[in-house]
Amino acid sequence: MKVTVVGAGAVGASCAEYIAIKDFAAEVVLIDIKEGFAEGKAMDLMQTASLNSFDTKITGTTGDYSKTAGSDVAVITSGIPRKPGMTREELISTNAGIVKSVAESLIKESPSVIIIVVSNPMDTMTYLTHKATGLPKHRVIGMGGALDSARFKYRLAEAVNAPISDIDGMVIGGHSDTGMIPLTRLATRNSVPVSEFVSEDRLEEVKQATKVGGATLTKLLGTSAWYAPGAAVSAMVQAIGNDSKKMFPCSCMLNGEYGLDDICIGVPAVIGAKGIESIVEIELSDAEKQDLSTSAEAVRKTNSLL
Ligand code: LAC
Repeated sequence: MKVTVVGAGAVGASCAEYIAIKDFAAEVVLIDIKEGFAEGKAMDLMQTASLNSFDTKITGTTGDYSKTAGSDVAVITSGIPRKPGMTREELISTNAGIVKSVAESLIKESPSVIIIVVSNPMDTMTYLTHKATGLPKHRVIGMGGALDSARFKYRLAEAVNAPISDIDGMVIGGHSDTGMIPLTRLATRNSVPVSEFVSEDRLEEVKQATKVGGATLTKLLGTSAWYAPGAAVSAMVQAIGNDSKKMFPCSCMLNGEYGLDDICIGVPAVIGAKGIESIVEIELSDAEKQDLSTSAEAVRKTNSLL
């Protein structure tokens, strides 16, 4: 498969690196507007190929979309990241124009591409990509839930004092500090509910730490995180490439599912060769339904700024 990664910054480059290391894609094209930057990152990454044992060919280009032609999947990471103290929503005025023009350039060269949106505010940028491209809803996917769930599992493992491989858990809702809904009720350690291991108060702490997971890292790093976002995208690209039908929570255009319409927000979805193969409607508790409705209202508010 051919994958384009738009934006050769930290998230884009990590994403390209993890895709290459997993060695399932024939080609990754990195594209950036900064002269020589994508070419440099691609060359540096290619010089790890003999060390990390991959055959994926990584190339870079400064803004030449013809090099992305025939991509099966394109990942949009372009735009500015948040600085400490900023919310993802505050990035909208800069990032909306960038994401729209990138999405339009991508589909001109790759009419059958599946687009994964990473740029923030991610749910709104996914919605914008749907509207700007008119692509069928299974071909535009927002990456948020896979990342937020990985952060949730990290916090759960810490609380339960277990290896992360013992832990399963999922975060739905908007990819924002207030909109995320870590589903503690359904989280397990080897199929045993985590509530068997930790108190409700500790689980509430896990939930809060998960919701501000990105902000915590932004404060520590001075900019937003890249390893876990890159790894989360690469896992989704791999599920498409291998048609593995893995379930990830991700930002999907909803038409009635979960009682929501004309909105992109994080819900569990099966990811395979077609992109979103199906949206999985799980039975939520009344409190979780209420949280999802509040989260959707906040996403709609940001969408209204487009
Ligand atoms: C984060 C960015 C990718 O949560 O939104 O780190």
